[in-house]
Amino acid sequence: MQKNNAQTLLIVEDDVGLLTQLKWHFSDYNVVVASNLNDAIIAIRLHEPQVMVQDLGLPPDPDGVTQGFALVQQALEINPHMKLIVMTGNDCNEHAIKAVSLGAYDFYSKPVNPDTLELIVQRAFHMHQLEAKNRAFNLSKSSNLKGLITGDDKMLKVCKLIERVAPTNAACLLLGESGTGKEVLATSLHSLSARSDAPFVAINCAALPENLFESELFGYERGAFTGAVKSTPGKFELADGGTVFLDEIGEMPLQLQAKLLRFLQEKVIERVGGRKLIYLDTRIVCATNRNLEEMMAKGEFREDLYYRIAEIQIDIPPLRDRSSDKILLARYLLKKYAQEENLKIVGFTEDAISAIEEYSWPGNIRELGNKVTRAAIMCEQKYISAEDLGLKSVDPIPLNLKVIREGAELNALKTTLNATGNNISAAAKLLGVTRPTLYDLMKKHNLSIN
Ligand SMILES: Nc1ncnc2c1ncn2[C@@H]1O[C@H](COP(=O)(O)OP(=O)(O)OP(=O)(O)O)[C@@H](O)[C@H]1O
Ligand SMILES: [Mg+2]
Repeated sequence: MQKNNAQTLLIVEDDVGLLTQLKWHFSDYNVVVASNLNDAIIAIRLHEPQVMVQDLGLPPDPDGVTQGFALVQQALEINPHMKLIVMTGNDCNEHAIKAVSLGAYDFYSKPVNPDTLELIVQRAFHMHQLEAKNRAFNLSKSSNLKGLITGDDKMLKVCKLIERVAPTNAACLLLGESGTGKEVLATSLHSLSARSDAPFVAINCAALPENLFESELFGYERGAFTGAVKSTPGKFELADGGTVFLDEIGEMPLQLQAKLLRFLQEKVIERVGGRKLIYLDTRIVCATNRNLEEMMAKGEFREDLYYRIAEIQIDIPPLRDRSSDKILLARYLLKKYAQEENLKIVGFTEDAISAIEEYSWPGNIRELGNKVTRAAIMCEQKYISAEDLGLKSVDPIPLNLKVIREGAELNALKTTLNATGNNISAAAKLLGVTRPTLYDLMKKHNLSIN
């Protein structure tokens, strides 16, 4: 059985028998157990469970202090977002209410029926997930970078870093796959700096022909070469006082890397065909989707240039590694496009949401934007489907997984019992479980062999 490692459940119970039973019952979650307050606190810090099931009647500690309520309080202090379910004795309604007033999510009266408890636990995980998404959405609104939407922790860290280094003159290198937002971040570095009133000049190093590199970047004097009819400032000069964004720096040929390095070291340029040195105050921001370290090892990128341009290196995570951003951005991009074009599209169908989650987005936000725009144009309904997006339709995973698991388990039991002529020992051996476990499984599925 495959575990859902993303979902961690902490069970705190001092009755060893019950603890074992529950641990087995919830085995498709990542279960962590504890039998007293101290171990539970350690487990909360270490494993950060989303849901905790706790026996409120834990025995008092050696000093005679009851542990149940103390644990509720301390657990929620450490992790206020965790969903805490307390188990109380049969006639302990007052205790249950007190626990809820302390912040517990729900309560459950013993004796324990694992199936009923499981429903509560499932709902708690679901609620936790919804709230986490909601928090992420709210956080995204608090990003100070214009036009940048995210709710992902890694990406929010990147935003914080951008905000912190923007006012400095540090040379920043933005590393990320195609379409991850390198240009958006480079623009933010400029607009959040004291240079924001001066120009931001973007130069695509991949699109610059080698023979035009110098004249484009450094400018030229009249008569410097055939066709140089008037003196023209280069891009660096145009960006004086502002920011130069060297996009796709990894594509720059070695010979040109040497020229760029000279400018970075001396902060001075000479126009082609000119004799005057021109001192410039520009900030350099570079970006690439190439692996510069590998290129340096192969001698394709100068190490000295790398250290000049990468005073601060910023790694931008790809969209597939940003939790909840796929849907967040899909909705944002759709809303933006629908508003611009005055379209009546409201949102995505459930299968579209699952397909967006499932797909790996090699072209990142750029690809997401393209697919959403195309779908919005093609879609004749209010809701965009997976097909409109050109994505494979997938079943909504979380809802069906349990059903699939249960079905597979029941099938395996039936097949094995048939194959062994209802011999419990042989069937247990075949299934790789103990006899008591097999009995429990049969009971759970209402299977009898009489
Ligand atoms: N977090 C974001 N929120 C909103 N829009 C975004 C975000 N990240 C990227 N975009 C949009 O996605 C598109 C691609 O972003 P951008 O051009 O900055 O990526 P890039 O990393 O420079 O891509 P490439 O490597 O292809 O040049 C742009 O239209 C940009 O506005
Ligand atoms: Mg770009």
